Amino acid sequence: MPLVPMKPMLRQAQAAKYAIAAFNMIDYNSARAIVDGATELNAPIIVQVSVKTIKLWGHQSIAGWVKSLAGETHIPVALHLDHCKDLAVIQGCIDAGWTSVMYDGSAFPYEENLARTREAYDLARNAGVGLEAEIGAIGGTEDDKFVAEDEAILAKVDECVSFCEALPDLAVFAPAIGTAHGEYKGEPKIAYDRLEKIVELTGMPIALHGGTGLTEAQFHRCICSGCAKVNISTMHKKRFIDGFIDLRGRDPRQKEPIPFIQAQYEAMKEDVRDMVETFGGTGRAEEAAAAA
Ligand code: 13P
Repeated sequence: MPLVPMKPMLRQAQAAKYAIAAFNMIDYNSARAIVDGATELNAPIIVQVSVKTIKLWGHQSIAGWVKSLAGETHIPVALHLDHCKDLAVIQGCIDAGWTSVMYDGSAFPYEENLARTREAYDLARNAGVGLEAEIGAIGGTEDDKFVAEDEAILAKVDECVSFCEALPDLAVFAPAIGTAHGEYKGEPKIAYDRLEKIVELTGMPIALHGGTGLTEAQFHRCICSGCAKVNISTMHKKRFIDGFIDLRGRDPRQKEPIPFIQAQYEAMKEDVRDMVETFGGTGRAEEAAAAA
């Protein structure tokens, strides 16, 4: 089917207490693994793209790949832009057919974040595209963004409320709740109480950033508290690389590239299936499609 917007699916997922996995794709093979893994479980999926990846392949190639993969499956597939503070990149995504984008103004003080996010909000809404926005500062490394552990800031509940009142049509909201991008160095301190309060007072579906390394229990608690989109990047990148390396170890004389591509695909797809299953997405394609 054609690409779908993520907002109605996320609202449905939040109400039904499951979450839709959002994987950061790397290339065509990775996008194929993401869509095929979800298809095998009859689950909705979000293919999201980091700015660096867009700079490498270009908007049109990526949109073409994901649209054709979506066109070959019955599950709903959304194409989303991850953390971006460049309106030109956002505009490029809108023009190429992305169904949602993220504007990340979290490095700015609250008022400036709101003002800048509003520009992206207007741009996206006028084009019928959904917007994700962030408040607070999520720690760790994502794409070109690095937030040191001592600079990570939990989102303030009152700011979340006023932000979402000012931008009521957000597709999904990303408050910093103690998770971090990249590998966790210690036990993450997730602010569940704050998450619950934010959901209660804003009514927004929440994006859980920093999915790699969280435990099943942590995922479940976040999802039960209102996280409807769970982002996974680091784990996927690792599988992308390990898929090649592992085959080299198993079959050092292999000289053909296609078995490597296939091994990489299988490695990535296994993680996609694991995460979709963990987030409760299995068998949800029809209800998510009906919402979209
Ligand atoms: P991880 O790299 O920790 O999986 O986080 C991904 C993410 O939140 C992308 O925005």
